[in-house]
Amino acid sequence: MIWETLDDYETLSNRAARILLEEIRESPRAVLGLPTGRTPAGMYRHVAAECARQYHCFRDVNTFNLDEYAGIPRDHPGSYFTFMKQHLFDHIDVDPAHTHLPDGNAPDLKAECARYELAIKKAGGLALTFLGLGRNGHIAFNEPGTPFDSRTRVVELTESTRHANADDFRGRQVPTHALTMGIGTILESRRIVLLASGIGKRAAIERLEHADIGPSFPASSLWDHDDVTVLVDRRTIA
Ligand code: GLP
Repeated sequence: MIWETLDDYETLSNRAARILLEEIRESPRAVLGLPTGRTPAGMYRHVAAECARQYHCFRDVNTFNLDEYAGIPRDHPGSYFTFMKQHLFDHIDVDPAHTHLPDGNAPDLKAECARYELAIKKAGGLALTFLGLGRNGHIAFNEPGTPFDSRTRVVELTESTRHANADDFRGRQVPTHALTMGIGTILESRRIVLLASGIGKRAAIERLEHADIGPSFPASSLWDHDDVTVLVDRRTIA
């Protein structure tokens, strides 16, 4: 695991954007795993700004988001589909047919999860996946207790995660369930970059650094992978 400490959130976001842009420059048909949340928003801002200056930045890139809420339509203001459009997809030249998110409103959610796994495989597998970090150590929506060989599936969200994400729903009920790539799905990505910024993630980062590897702390699964970069800023480390 390679650890990089950046001065602040902006520098961290810029560094993450450089890693992403370098990947798609080297492999214009790259398959990316993408996160949502407050943390990657800065990375997306930098990527969008850079792509505005270039021609055909994302033309042949495929993206697979890590997760989506269940039971809400794609165009719901709190959906991850909406988040991705607002923060990235509307600002780059990606082909909408190449941007994949699980459909949280599919009639058969189990079948939708199986379809999503297959779509990742058919695209050639994830080359580079970015992750945020939940305060309880969750990655994507893999909450504590998730086995490390889990695949894309429907999960029940913990109260703490629903509370942490309440802002996206502006006073309305946060969905109780979500569709998420499994830890096993994520670990098959050839490279992984984890982003953590701010005091709020300090305890989780400390635990990642020192934790015993096990399902009670999902991010500890990343120790089982041989190409992980962790980007933190100064406020995140004690
Ligand atoms: C959500 C997402 C995770 C993300 C986490 C942290 O639960 N499903 O993928 O890592 O939030 O988000 P934030 O960056 O807003 O702290």
